[in-house]
Order: sequence, then C-alpha cells, then structure tokens
Amino acid sequence: TKITFKLLNGGSQEVDACDGQSFMRVAVDNDVPGVTGECGGEVSCATCHMYLSPEVSSGIGDPSDEELDLMEIMDSFVPDRSRLGCQLVVQSELDGVEVEVAPTL
Ligand code: FES
Repeated sequence: TKITFKLLNGGSQEVDACDGQSFMRVAVDNDVPGVTGECGGEVSCATCHMYLSPEVSSGIGDPSDEELDLMEIMDSFVPDRSRLGCQLVVQSELDGVEVEVAPTL
C-alpha cells in the first residue's frame, strides 16, 4: 500500500507500507523526518502527529477520546484533520493516500 508523506520542509516521500502497520511505524521505519514515535504508540507523546484530509480522516473512523485528549493540547491541532499516526492502521483501501507530517507542539 503506497503512502505519500508530505514533509514539514515542503518535500514529500512516498513509501511502500505493509497493511496492518501503524502510520507511525511506517514513517519511523522509513526515516520520514518529523515523525519519531517516542512513546512507541502508547498515545502519550504526540510525536506521530499527522494531518489527513477530512474525507480520509472520517473514512478511517473517529479518533478515540484518548487520542483527542492528547491532540487537543497542541497548538497545531486541527479538528477533523489531526490524527496520531500510531492509531492509524495501514489498509489496502488507503492505497495512494497522502498524509501530512504535522508539528508536535
Ligand atoms: Fe506516541 Fe503516537 S507514538 S502518541
């Protein structure tokens, strides 16, 4: 499943991801700059913050309360677009999706 990460510096990076992995894991394994996944997916660091288009985000399902609580304290939080990459699972229906690396503060 191909995913394109839009980078904070304006560039982009396309990666080939395995279904079932989280977007955070895919980004970290491919050295996508700006995604560090410091807590390892425990929903406590937000260093996997990403923006999706509202259509893609709603298609994936709503963020959990835990995910929302952590994102809402960041200045960079954008309702309907912000997601934590560690909570998003790659699936074949998402082939070709674009996701923007977001600031972590
Ligand atoms: Fe820490 Fe996602 S990796 S919140």
